[in-house]
Amino acid sequence: MRTQVTIIGGGPSGLLLGQLLHGAGIDTVVLERQSKAHVLSRIRAGILETGTVALMHKAGVGQRLEKECFRHDGTVICHGEMQFGVNFSERAGKHVVVYGQTELTRDLYEARELASAKTLFNIENVTIQGADTDTPSVSYEQEGLTHTIKCDFIAGCDGFHGVSRTTIPAQLRREYEKLYPFGWLGVLSETPPVHDELIYAGSDRGFALCSMRNANLSRYYIQCSLTDQPEDWSDTAFWEELKRRIPNEYADRLVTGASIEKSIAPLRSFVSEPMRWGRLFLCGDAAHIVPPTGAKGLNSAMGDVHYLFNGFQQFYQEGDTRGIDEYSAKALARVWKAERFSWATTKLLHRFPDDSDFDRKMQQADVAFLAENSAAQTVFAQNYVGLPY
Ligand code: APR
Ligand code: PHB
Repeated sequence: MRTQVTIIGGGPSGLLLGQLLHGAGIDTVVLERQSKAHVLSRIRAGILETGTVALMHKAGVGQRLEKECFRHDGTVICHGEMQFGVNFSERAGKHVVVYGQTELTRDLYEARELASAKTLFNIENVTIQGADTDTPSVSYEQEGLTHTIKCDFIAGCDGFHGVSRTTIPAQLRREYEKLYPFGWLGVLSETPPVHDELIYAGSDRGFALCSMRNANLSRYYIQCSLTDQPEDWSDTAFWEELKRRIPNEYADRLVTGASIEKSIAPLRSFVSEPMRWGRLFLCGDAAHIVPPTGAKGLNSAMGDVHYLFNGFQQFYQEGDTRGIDEYSAKALARVWKAERFSWATTKLLHRFPDDSDFDRKMQQADVAFLAENSAAQTVFAQNYVGLPY
């Protein structure tokens, strides 16, 4: 088989890149290790920057999103009983929207099928050959048979546990990582959201987040210990702990119900440099991870897709390699700023087990400064709605 760009990984990065390339007349094959049903059963964050929404429209897949998303012009930030709002539209001239990542992925699969673009599911043992030559190829196994795809370029969109990043020789790669001493326990419940904006809450008992998917579907999180298991937390224990971490005003009107999903995710900051080796380009979670505080995971991945698509388009339409040559530096420049925001917001609102009384006072002073200072709120809002591409 031959294609122009082999895309490894059928998550949001690989699918959106594939759809944009299809629109530009560039042929792709997407290789996905899991089944489509499995990919669509993963529950991930649900905040989209306006840049992400614009890319979906550019790819011709923005119609359902436009109809079903919820516009958020700001967010609530709390510490104990102290609370304030940050208005994104006033401070940064932009808003964000709530639209589940699972729905975005579903829209992209539907569009790919409509376009009759090739996606192979349940494939195993993907390996990349000749990434540093002019004749790269990708091999994989399906139903016990080995196949090879020859191509011009390979887009490594296979997430943190994929094979693309580790194909780059270790001596050419530098990894930067920070592990946080806690996780997030997340619950999805068919209950009305406690508030019409998200609530990011710091408290002496740890962080909590009140988020949502729609008028009758809420997503809540509480900071938990890394040794906790979801089974350790009954629904009742979860709701009680959430109520202790948010201001009474919200705790009193929180509607609780049976959880329909409960899971724990560890928090990690991670960047691998460079994001290109020869004809292999890393994109999204394959190259970088952020802690979820601030909702930058998907949105950072979409920034990469923007730069990589532009690079490929310039190459195929004008024979100009500048876009692909600059890809890694441009993508990383934006990624590091999202890393900084996610790290800073995590530090601002979580309870770190080793923090001294002094550290706690510094954290409280940081929150108080943000509550009182319009310049600080502008900086927060600009980061939250997404830095320009
Ligand atoms: N071969 C083929 N596919 C693979 C392989 C492999 N060896 N390894 C992983 N994959 C697939 C995974 O099954 C997954 O569907 O690659 C896909 C990667 O998707 P994501 O992990 O969702 O990563 P990405 O597409 O970059 O999405 C951006 O940002 O913070 C996050 O939660 C956010 O998932 C979102 C991500
Ligand atoms: C979510 O809705 O799942 C969500 C929202 C905002 C975040 C993280 C997760 O910062």
